[in-house]
Amino acid sequence: MKPLAAGNWKMNGQKAAISEIEALKDKLSGTTPECDVMICPPATLVMALADAAAGSVIQTGGQDCHTAVSGAHTGDVSAAMLKDAGATAVIVGHSERRADHGETSEAVKAKAEAAIAEGLTAIVCLGETLAEREAGDTLSVVHAQLSGSLPDGANGASTIIAYEPVWAIGSGLTPTAEQVADVHIAIRAGLSALTSAEEAHAIRILYGGSVKPSNAGELMAIDNVDGALVGGASLKADDFAGIIAAF
Ligand code: PGA
Repeated sequence: MKPLAAGNWKMNGQKAAISEIEALKDKLSGTTPECDVMICPPATLVMALADAAAGSVIQTGGQDCHTAVSGAHTGDVSAAMLKDAGATAVIVGHSERRADHGETSEAVKAKAEAAIAEGLTAIVCLGETLAEREAGDTLSVVHAQLSGSLPDGANGASTIIAYEPVWAIGSGLTPTAEQVADVHIAIRAGLSALTSAEEAHAIRILYGGSVKPSNAGELMAIDNVDGALVGGASLKADDFAGIIAAF
C-alpha cells in the first residue's frame, strides 16, 4: 500500500502560514513522492489550504469533527463542513483531544463514523502514556483504544490508524524501532480480529511522535509502519519535504 505522510498543524498557523503550502508545492513539483501527502491545518485554514494545494499532490484534512452534520453545537465543526471546505480526511481521537476534552473511545468511534458517512477518511489516533508504558500496559491500552474507537465497517479507504505514544509527542523522544514494531504488529493483529485479514492489511497504520527528517527514514522502514503523523516538523515546508523525501 502507498504510505502517507500527514502533517498535523494543531493550533498553529494563521493566513500567512499558507506560504508554507506554496513552498511545499514548489519543493514537490516535478517529483513523484513515494507517499501520499496531507496537511491537517486548524479549521480556520482548511479552505485556504485546500485552495492553495489544488492541482498538487497535497491533500487537506481536518483535526476533529462533531458527530452531527449541523445544529446547535457552538464552536464545533462537522465532517460535512470540512468536506465542503475541501478536506478529504479528518483526524479523530488525537491524545490532546482525549486529554483536553475528555474524549472517550466511544466518542472517537462516533466521530470516525460521522466522518466516513460524509466520505472523509478517518485518521483514528491511539497511544499509551508514559505511566501506562512503564506499568507494562502499552499493548492492552492500545488494544482497548483500537477496539473502542474503530469505526464499524472500517476498511483501507475509510480508515487510517495513527499510533502515537503520548510521551513521544512534542517531546523529542521516540520509541525504539523494536517498541514501534511491537505495537504496530499488535495493531495489525487487532485489526485483523476486528475486521478481516484482508481489510487489516489495507488499513494504513501511521507512527506519530517526534518524527523529523533525521529519524523518518528509520521509522518508516519498520515493519507495519505505513506512514507518519507529524506535528511540529510539518509546520515548515523544508522539514516536511525532508520527511517526505525519507520515505
Ligand atoms: P509531534 O506531534 O510530531 O510534534 O511530536 C505529533 C502529533 O501529535 O501528531
